Amino acid sequence: MIAEEKATLISTKIHLASDKLWKVALFGPDNYKAAVISHYLRTKNKKLKKHAIQYASDFLSGFLNGELNNRVAEDALQYLIKFDEDVLFPTPAYPKFTFIDLFAGIGGFRIAMQRNQGECVFSSEWDKMAQRTYYANFGEIPFGDITKDETKKWIPNKFDVLCAGFPCQPFSIAGVTKKNALGRKHGFDDEKQGNLFFHIVEIIERHRPKAFFLENVKNLVSHDKGNTFKVIKETLQDLDYSFHSRVLNGKHFVPQHRERTFMVGFDKHVYKDKEKFEFPILPKPNKKFRNILVSCQSKIVG
Ligand SMILES: C[S@@+](CC[C@H](N)C(=O)[O-])C[C@H]1O[C@@H](n2cnc3c(N)ncnc32)[C@H](O)[C@@H]1O
Repeated sequence: MIAEEKATLISTKIHLASDKLWKVALFGPDNYKAAVISHYLRTKNKKLKKHAIQYASDFLSGFLNGELNNRVAEDALQYLIKFDEDVLFPTPAYPKFTFIDLFAGIGGFRIAMQRNQGECVFSSEWDKMAQRTYYANFGEIPFGDITKDETKKWIPNKFDVLCAGFPCQPFSIAGVTKKNALGRKHGFDDEKQGNLFFHIVEIIERHRPKAFFLENVKNLVSHDKGNTFKVIKETLQDLDYSFHSRVLNGKHFVPQHRERTFMVGFDKHVYKDKEKFEFPILPKPNKKFRNILVSCQSKIVG
């Protein structure tokens, strides 16, 4: 068989394999292989390259038999995860700082940070459907369960800001009422989700980002008569970070009454006494749901 024909055959096989993998293997809480490939394709982080090629080979070994070598595997990366430059919310062309996006959901933090010229260098979200949406928005498959060492080990050593909208059910009024009714524990005592804050602390302690930016429900401040919030604040201050917090309402930007606690802190080893953070004055609420519907409608029609 001549070389060109062979190449086409291999790429067709890779293509077929990638369509099958797309359906089964790319998303989920333990998807670190797909996440490594995807992070490598987007960030071109050299430290990920060797692993990305290895994982592409693992995915393809059953499909390509003897034809698989490093070059084929590298080509296959592009097929396995159709990384698209033309994503809805691309990384800024000339980023000014880096951040990681934990409990990423569908990427609310990421949009805001990218608009301020930030480059995301690691994302984690364990819900399959949220991962799919995040991929559609940013062209990147987030890593899964952040409580696992297999996920944490892929966080780059250095980055500037840690963003995390950690799960709120253990602290929210609705979550606490439900858990009380079911006789379950809430707050930090919630066995499944209460300790997630301490995983954030572990990551801050290990990587020492210049700043953290956290978000949770309004009730976080008053949960357990203020003790929960006291623990959060003091734990972060004990790491030598400043701590600023405020309850802000999303209605200043979207047509929804949505109060959330925002927490921001800066590494005192870096900023010493020079840090002068203040929460911004928010614009007057003027967004109407009707206007959003009209603009969607005109996009669909137009
Ligand atoms: C409050 S939402 C964050 C929403 C996000 N800020 C956004 O803009 O969409 C918390 C997210 O954490 C995710 N999550 C919960 N536990 C997790 C874990 N152990 N590892 C990774 N993600 C987790 C949930 O699936 C959920 O999407």
